[in-house]
Amino acid sequence: PNSQRQHQSGSAAEQNPLNSRALSTRRELYERDFPVYKQPVEVGSFSLDSERRFFNDGRQMRYYVEPERNPNFDLRDGYKDRFIKRDDSVKEKLDHILQWVIANRSKLNSRTTSASSCALDVDFVTWRGHLTKLLTTPYETREGWMLAATKFRGTIYISEVETEAARRERENRTERHEEMMYWGYKFEQYTCADNVHGAPDPGGVVNTNEAFCTVVQTRLADHRLLFSGEVDCRDKDPSAPAPPACYVELKTSAEICTPKQRSNFHRFKLLKWWAQSFLPGVPRVVAGFRNHEGVVVSVETFHISKISQLIKNEYNCWRPTVCMNFCCDFLTFVKRTVTEDSPSVVYLFSWEPHRDVTFSIHRDSQFSFLPRWYVEEMTR
Ligand code: A3P
Ligand code: MG
Ligand code: MG
Repeated sequence: PNSQRQHQSGSAAEQNPLNSRALSTRRELYERDFPVYKQPVEVGSFSLDSERRFFNDGRQMRYYVEPERNPNFDLRDGYKDRFIKRDDSVKEKLDHILQWVIANRSKLNSRTTSASSCALDVDFVTWRGHLTKLLTTPYETREGWMLAATKFRGTIYISEVETEAARRERENRTERHEEMMYWGYKFEQYTCADNVHGAPDPGGVVNTNEAFCTVVQTRLADHRLLFSGEVDCRDKDPSAPAPPACYVELKTSAEICTPKQRSNFHRFKLLKWWAQSFLPGVPRVVAGFRNHEGVVVSVETFHISKISQLIKNEYNCWRPTVCMNFCCDFLTFVKRTVTEDSPSVVYLFSWEPHRDVTFSIHRDSQFSFLPRWYVEEMTR
């Protein structure tokens, strides 16, 4: 790659979390008061259909139908003959969010002076999933990440780059793992209806190209964020609160039989579930607990606001404040680093467990991710 510079962490980085070249991920550095996180506001939504085509509307929204407490859903049903899997070797980067931005620019520009009519009034545009990875970083011991950042017209766009290790894992999944990835989507089919008065259709096809995504705006300390995330379904009660408060996240997890399993569930699963739903303001997760044969034996609701209470008695457990403060300091680090405003320049932030976050700079490289159609539309 052209003009690449690799910055290595020095010993000072271990002391100072905001060293100029590296950012420490040590938990102790982020144990302070919870940062300001404004209630996320939904500014729009979009849908991706069965062929992954974009629609600037909520046509893929689904409605939650509460199952029995002990439903015996067979999650393996249909894996062989009623499953259309999205091609996850296709990297869509921020393209769908950018399509949404172009279709909804008027909602976002509040700097209406002619000189800056193109500037979005936010500091960062990204996927919720990328922020989830940042929130869990101080507790992650297995998987690193790479995040590409580009500043364009004053806004920093952040898009994930698949690591070599993640690519190898994706290309070498076992048949068992492939099937287990289907189970989560099958659970959604058992608990969601396509229309407000409808019933779930467990006999239908599971197509993971289909998605409904919310777009929310919020602020973390002094970082104005615009991000999008997939939403599984909503409360079908017409008197339910407005989005995102009516949204429901669906999850499956292994049945809990021992105190050790309960502790691991609290320490690892609930961290991921909390981070994913807290960010867009989704208030509850409905969990289907399944046995080894892929049968959901019980269903339980977790309220996001109660999760920190639930984990309080766990020894050496994660803390929401550490997650949010790390994310906040990472964004500050990105703002300080990403200074050149150009769609073809990428600042690539990389992290491996037990290391600091470091970065390298790439001009006109394979990492550039803002499409020409977006740059041209925003420059008009
Ligand atoms: P479960 O999480 O219930 O297993 P989401 O829960 O975010 O709506 O994602 C729906 C399903 O997609 C997951 O259901 C899981 O089956 C699959 N999935 C999501 N992220 C995944 C990942 N990083 N690796 C493997 N499977 C994933
Ligand atoms: Mg989902
Ligand atoms: Mg889900």
